[in-house]
Amino acid sequence: MTAEPVYRQGWKLDDISWDAFQPETVDPILLAAIKAAALVEYNAPDYVTYLKRVFRDCGPEILADLERWGAEESQHGRALGRWAEIADPAFKLEEAFERFRKGYMPAHFADLDAEGSVRGSRRGEMVARCVVESGTSSYYSAIRDATDEPVLKEIAGRIAADEYRHYKLFYDILHKQDEPDMPFWRKLWVAVGRVRESDDDELAFAYYCANVSPEDEAAKPYDRVTYSRLAARTGMTIYRRRHIQKLVQMVAKVIGANPHGAIANWGGALLWRFMQKKAAAAA
Ligand SMILES: [Fe+2]
Ligand SMILES: [Fe+2]
Repeated sequence: MTAEPVYRQGWKLDDISWDAFQPETVDPILLAAIKAAALVEYNAPDYVTYLKRVFRDCGPEILADLERWGAEESQHGRALGRWAEIADPAFKLEEAFERFRKGYMPAHFADLDAEGSVRGSRRGEMVARCVVESGTSSYYSAIRDATDEPVLKEIAGRIAADEYRHYKLFYDILHKQDEPDMPFWRKLWVAVGRVRESDDDELAFAYYCANVSPEDEAAKPYDRVTYSRLAARTGMTIYRRRHIQKLVQMVAKVIGANPHGAIANWGGALLWRFMQKKAAAAA
């Protein structure tokens, strides 16, 4: 077994070995998922604006961290988008992104006068962010391990490493807040709420804009249930048990449960069974 390469922070698009691309190893289902992921990642600047508003009184250091975080997320979008454009020359990142932007705007991004976090506190906001970074970190690790396409393997490896660093960044910010600590049930509530939001329009609509061309829009109108099922299909099939366990351990840690304790083990087993069922249904 060859050792995993170590991908450091601050990589650039030019650092990727684009020439190693092997078209015959592209899996069309994974390609469809990558196009959708590119749009969601590329949409990071709105989230930066929102988070900077939530943390505006917390000093310049956090604001600079948030800027850097957002720049990295946008770059994830550009890297995945460029890969998808190479794998499928009919796909255009900017075009698909424009349609996505037009049709998707969560309320807490749209309301520019709103103050504070939709999670109720800065700590709540960071718990939710850690849940998302746990999810993306495990998702890109699963893609890295599932794909035989060398360039996508490299990009997913680089992104997975970034997402893990993002988790650590938000975990640190969480514990630096001068707000009172949240009770366990409250953190669990925020975490479960954020996981449930994964079913919302964002991914489904990104999948739609990325995979249905403007010419086909009339014949294939957007339907949230259909496209959220299609968007979830890849995830259900590429995850391995170890990715799920890591995901659950990261979430357990942030809500204050023992990552190696009974709750985390039980949660990991439960989630794994759920995903296997979904994978069987999707197949
Ligand atoms: Fe990302
Ligand atoms: Fe991230």
